Amino acid sequence: MTAVEVLDGDHHLFGVHTTSMSYVFTVTAEGLLRHLHWGAPIALADVIIEPIWALSTNDLIHDVMPQEYPPHGRFRYNEQCLMVRFPDGGRELDLQYQGYDATDTELTVHLHDPKGVDVDLHYEVLAVDAIKRWAVITSDVPGLVLESVASAQFAIPFQDLTLRNVEGRWGAEFQQTVQQVRGKIVLESRHGISNHHHSPYAVLSREATETSGRVWAAALAFSGNTKTVVEQTQYGQTLLQLGVNDFDLELTLLEGETFTTPPVVALYSEQGLEDVSHRLHAFGRSLMSGGDRPVLYNSWEATNFDVTCDGQIALAESAAAIGAELFVVDDGWFGRRSPDATGGITDGLGDWWVDPVKFPDGLAPLITRVRELGMDFGIWVEPEMVNPDSDLFAEHPDWIYSEPGRTTDTARGQYVLNLTLPAVQEFVAKMLDELLTDNDIAYLKWDANRPMSQVGPGRDVWLRHIEALYAIVAQVKRRHPGVLIEACASGGGRIDFGALAVFDDFWTSDNTDALDRLEIHRAYSLVYPPKAMRAWVTDVPNFLSQRSIPLQFRFHSAMFGSLGVGCDLSTMSDDELAQCAKYVEEYKALRPLMDQFHRLENPSRNDYRLFQYSSQSGAVLFAFLPQSRLGHTSTTVRLRGLEPSARYRFTHDWQQREASGQYLMSRGIRLWMQGDYASTIIRFDRVGN
Ligand code: DGJ
Repeated sequence: MTAVEVLDGDHHLFGVHTTSMSYVFTVTAEGLLRHLHWGAPIALADVIIEPIWALSTNDLIHDVMPQEYPPHGRFRYNEQCLMVRFPDGGRELDLQYQGYDATDTELTVHLHDPKGVDVDLHYEVLAVDAIKRWAVITSDVPGLVLESVASAQFAIPFQDLTLRNVEGRWGAEFQQTVQQVRGKIVLESRHGISNHHHSPYAVLSREATETSGRVWAAALAFSGNTKTVVEQTQYGQTLLQLGVNDFDLELTLLEGETFTTPPVVALYSEQGLEDVSHRLHAFGRSLMSGGDRPVLYNSWEATNFDVTCDGQIALAESAAAIGAELFVVDDGWFGRRSPDATGGITDGLGDWWVDPVKFPDGLAPLITRVRELGMDFGIWVEPEMVNPDSDLFAEHPDWIYSEPGRTTDTARGQYVLNLTLPAVQEFVAKMLDELLTDNDIAYLKWDANRPMSQVGPGRDVWLRHIEALYAIVAQVKRRHPGVLIEACASGGGRIDFGALAVFDDFWTSDNTDALDRLEIHRAYSLVYPPKAMRAWVTDVPNFLSQRSIPLQFRFHSAMFGSLGVGCDLSTMSDDELAQCAKYVEEYKALRPLMDQFHRLENPSRNDYRLFQYSSQSGAVLFAFLPQSRLGHTSTTVRLRGLEPSARYRFTHDWQQREASGQYLMSRGIRLWMQGDYASTIIRFDRVGN
C-alpha cells in the first residue's frame, strides 16, 4: 500500500496512509467530499460505503454527512471551513469535485464553484507518522472576499471525547486542561499572537492514558489569531476544525489571486498520549534547526533594565565559570531605555542604537570579552514595537497600528508597529541586518511584550502581520545563517508549530518558579518538543511565587528543558557558584541521552513528579517530591522507552546496579525521597545487549 492510494471506481476513494493511521474519504454522486475514516490503518479495497440516513426533514444530508471542507451554504449548520462574499453579494458556495493529482506522498483534490472559486485540498504524508493538510483558495473573479477560511476539518465517529489543551495568562502559561466535549468548544486567540491562553491544537481521546487508548490530535502551524473548534454533532460525531481566526478577518482576492492557509498536522494513535507526543515532537524537531541548544546565561532577572558594560562583563565572567555556552544581554542596552519613577517604561523601543551612557564604547568591549571567555554572544530585541518616547516614533508616528480619529492605547508603554507596511518591514529587516553585521552576535532573543489592538480599517492585518514577521525572520536567517533566534512574547505567548518552523529557541514562561515549571513543562510536552522548551534557573525567593526552592531542585527542574541560568551570579557565594558549575556539567553530560521524553506514572499516593528521557544509549530519570506529607512512602518508577533485552547500569540507593530494560520497564525501581523540594536524577547507561 502506498502512502497515497486512490481507487477510481464508481466512487472515487481516496486513502492517505501512515504507519499507524489511515485517512479515507470519497466523492458522493452530488460531487461532495464525504469523510469516511480517520483511525487505524485500513485498505481502501475493504471500505464499505454505507448509506447516509437522512433522518427527517429536519436532518438533511449536508448537515448529517461529515465533509472534508464544508463551505457555507445549503443545509449546513455546523462550523464551516469557507465563507466568502462574491462581487454580487451572494455568499453561498457550491464546491464541486473536479479531479485530483497524486504522488506517492501527496494528494491534491480540486474543487470548483462555477461562480468563480477554486479550492485545492492538500494532504501530505509526513515521515513522522502523521499527515499535513492545508487548503489553497483561488478567486476566478475580481474582488472575492474571504470571511472565514479554515485549514481543515476532521471528523471522529464518537461523541463524548476528552479534549486536552492548555489555559493560562502571563506568568501562568501552559496549565493543562482536560474536559469532556459537550456541545461546541472554541479555543482561540484574538491577540495577534498565538497567545498565553490556549494553544492552537486539539488532542481528543477516548479513555486514554499515557500508554493506551485512542487519541486523535491536530495542531495548526500559525502564530497569530487562530481558532480551534471542537463540535459534537447530534449525529454521533465530533468535528474538529482548525485555522486562522475569522474574528475581524476579511481577505480580498483579486482575479487569479490565491490564499494558502497555514498547514495542520494531524495524527491518530491507539497507544495513548505518549505516542502522540513523540510523533508531534518528531514533527516539531523536523521543523527546527538542528543541533543542541546551548546552555545560556540571560541577564534579565539579574539586572532588569539596569544593564551596563562593566556589570554585564562581570556577569559574563561568572557565567563562563559555571559553564554557560552563550551569554545573552536582555532588555535595556539601547536607546534611552530606563524605567521612570513609577517603574513604567515608555522610551527606547525603536531606537536600536547602543545606549552611550550604559555602553560608552559600544557593545564591542562586552562582546570581545564574552568571546574571549569562550561563549557566544546573544542580544535581546523587540522589533515589532515602538515607544512613544523614541526618535523612531517622533519621525514616523504613522507607523503604528491605529484607528482613524482615535487615540491608540499603549500597553507596557508601547505601541505595535504596523508590520504590514513595506517601509516598516524594510526598517525592521535593515535594523536587524545591521545589528548582526556590525557585531559578533550568534543569538537574538525576539520579544513581543503586548498584544496587537486597534489595528485600523484593514481586516487582513491580523494575518498579514504574521506573514511579514515570518518573512523578516526568514530573511535575517538567510543573510546570517547560523544565528539562532529565540521567540518570546512576554514569556510563552508565541509558541506553535508556525513559530517552531521559523524560530530556533522558545521562552516558555516568565514564571521561573521551579515547581510551577514542572506543571508548565508537563503540559507543554504534550504537543511541543522539549528541545523547544527553554528553562532558566533563577534566584530565590522567586519574584512571582515568592517561594524559595533549593538550588538542586531548581536546576533539576530546568534541566529537562534546554537549560539556562538567570541568577544574579554576582550575589552568589563561591560554594553556590561551584554547585551551579557542577549541575551545568552534569546537564552537558546528560544531553546526549535526552531524546524521547516520557511523563511517568506515579503509583504512590505521595506527590512524586516523575519524568524521563530515553535514547539509544540510555535513559535519565528526573524525580521530584515537592513536599513530604504525613505518612509518606516510596514510589515505584517503571521506566519507558528502553530496549527490553539490553542491560542498563545505574546508581541507586548508593549502589551500582545493572538490570535489563525489560526489568526496569516491568518491575521498575523503588524510589524513596524525603524532605521538601527533594529531587534526584538517575542516569541509566546501556552497557550491553
Ligand atoms: C519579557 C520576557 O519574557 C522576559 O524574559 C524579558 O525579556 C522581558 N520581556 C524584557 O523586557
